[in-house]
Amino acid sequence: MKHYLQFSDFSADEYAYVFARAALIKHKFKTYQKHHTLLDRTLAMIFEKASTRTRVSFEAGMYQLGGSVVHLTTGDSQLGRAEPIEDSAKVISRMTDIVMIRTFEQTKIERFAAHSRVPVINGLTNEFHPCQVLADIFTYIEHRGSIAGKTVAWVGDGNNMANTWLQAADLLGFTVHVSTPGGYEVNQSIAGVRASGSYRVFEDPLKACQGADLVTTDVWTSMGFEAENAARMQAFASWRVTTQMMAVAAPQALFMHCLPAHRGEEVDADVIDGPQSVVWDEAENRLHVQKALMEYLLLGELPA
Ligand code: CP
Repeated sequence: MKHYLQFSDFSADEYAYVFARAALIKHKFKTYQKHHTLLDRTLAMIFEKASTRTRVSFEAGMYQLGGSVVHLTTGDSQLGRAEPIEDSAKVISRMTDIVMIRTFEQTKIERFAAHSRVPVINGLTNEFHPCQVLADIFTYIEHRGSIAGKTVAWVGDGNNMANTWLQAADLLGFTVHVSTPGGYEVNQSIAGVRASGSYRVFEDPLKACQGADLVTTDVWTSMGFEAENAARMQAFASWRVTTQMMAVAAPQALFMHCLPAHRGEEVDADVIDGPQSVVWDEAENRLHVQKALMEYLLLGELPA
């Protein structure tokens, strides 16, 4: 049994399979062909933070695969009344086939997984957001081909998305140019990168974007850090992705944002709504890659 708790849980070969499978699943979805590989399987979704994309993509995805979904939140389950995470894992995993969790500390999902009888998927923690980067790389491949050897510019917070991009670069052979304000740097030990050559740090976000094949960012204040909002608004003021940054990137550069976005804060409206932006494909692809992911975790590799 495999879990998907961080990007480094899969090998490059496993990603090649999941991306190919996601392309097939997307094609079948777009052509209204049934794809009921998880008939009668049940997904438990546990949300301790808000969500639009993650909830809709996992819920719709599981139904489209022929299965069903149980939706739990902290407020409407015993999770919010201090039932130990280990006990919750033992119970929920006896009644369902696969579990997706969005929570705070990575240690929480690791504790759940350690006591689960079924695969567990990270739907976002403070440290990682592997399903989002899975969708982002699939989107890059759809638009531009292999990401190996390319350069991704990360502008903004050294958060869960930045950590996950570092892991992905390490594994799939591309480089991340990271530019964050002082005090908000990525922590290499959290990301757990093996090859330090897979990322470079830039003080100036404009320099980080020079020649980049993909420019990406996230909100200045991630969920769980709202108390820091005022300080972050000041600290991040120069880390907005602008048309000037896109102009110094490679001519075919794409722009991505995991959403939700704040136009005029971390990104100019002209960028996110401009011709280089692929944010709507990126959001839709959460559905297709996560269907491939759930299928792979439950059934392993299938013939095309
Ligand atoms: N990108 C993302 O995870 O979106 P939600 O917070 O809406 O799920």
